[in-house]
Amino acid sequence: MSNVFNFSAGPSSLPPAVMEVAREEFRDYRGLGVSVMEISHRSSEFMEIAERAEADLRELLNLSDDYYVLFLHGGASLQFSMVPLNLARISDTVDYVDTGYWSTKAISEAKRLTRVNVVATSEDQNYDRVVGFPDWRLSDSARYVHLTSNETIGGVQFREFPDTGHAPLVVDMSSDFLSRPIDTCRFGLIYAGAQKNVGPAGLCIVLIRKDLCGNERGHTPSLLSYGVHARHKSMFNTPPTYNWYLAGLVLAWLKSEGGLVAMETRNRRKAEKLYAAIDKSDLYHSPVQRPYRSMMNVPFTLLETELESRFLAIAERRGLSNLKGHRSVGGMRASLYNAIDEKAVDALIEHMESFEKALR
Ligand SMILES: Cc1ncc(COP(=O)(O)O)c(C=O)c1O
Repeated sequence: MSNVFNFSAGPSSLPPAVMEVAREEFRDYRGLGVSVMEISHRSSEFMEIAERAEADLRELLNLSDDYYVLFLHGGASLQFSMVPLNLARISDTVDYVDTGYWSTKAISEAKRLTRVNVVATSEDQNYDRVVGFPDWRLSDSARYVHLTSNETIGGVQFREFPDTGHAPLVVDMSSDFLSRPIDTCRFGLIYAGAQKNVGPAGLCIVLIRKDLCGNERGHTPSLLSYGVHARHKSMFNTPPTYNWYLAGLVLAWLKSEGGLVAMETRNRRKAEKLYAAIDKSDLYHSPVQRPYRSMMNVPFTLLETELESRFLAIAERRGLSNLKGHRSVGGMRASLYNAIDEKAVDALIEHMESFEKALR
């Protein structure tokens, strides 16, 4: 067992119970004598793994049969291109909400493929909030509205989702997928890179409403077509089988832990504790306005930036790892995904308090 509390933003901690099962099954998957990564994706053993993972995901999300579930390569970033390629023509307009680093990435990729209208941006406020829905300047005939539910770097999160009317809502949920219950029927498409709450990097889960599938542009490469992936049950080519297997173990673990309601309760408790510790101190500061603070990624700065390297060095010695903020914003960042135990947050708060006390 590791004594390290890993606050990495992604790839990030996986539940210890999942790692144990993976370790036990690593060389010999349930008596087969070989590893999951050594068998065909078309074998009955892998088909069962794949189907169970999808069934568990559907159950966790209460997802209706109106949606396909796709297990794809290419991370969440490939979706920045697949979404416009499949849902819009070059002359169409699509609406994007700019909430920071990841939505900016999605916008710049979409701009290569279609006409993008940025309906709201908090850039002028240094991305310390989400612009309220009433202030969005939506297009009359957008093919879809895209937003990033949780900005992994900036630590800004949507608490609730707007009704975008005729335009399907498309959401990059990479860093808060499965962290709380969502009303899936309100979305046209959800995508999530696995490496936060679902499994290892490289795998991306896509939920797409069936009527949005199969409308890709004529020249779209097969591997970038949702329709092709849906028709082939995500096995048009060899899927990332081991990642899919690990994601399946995480999904089974989530069910055994009480599902998404239990996750939300736990995640809220962890985040509230940490924000309370930041707010009551004279040393630490949260750059995000309270109503938009993320339950998953908590960035914070120290009043004197020269203290940051000392804070991090002592944290490392205490087994608190990967707290350094993203290179683009600096400061600290604690990621509190599902697999992060409350004990890790308690240990971090203890460190923050003793570090501050020692300065007095
Ligand atoms: C919100 C969000 N979207 C997209 C990505 C890109 O994911 P990937 O590196 O899997 O392409 C990330 C990565 O951290 C992310 O946090």
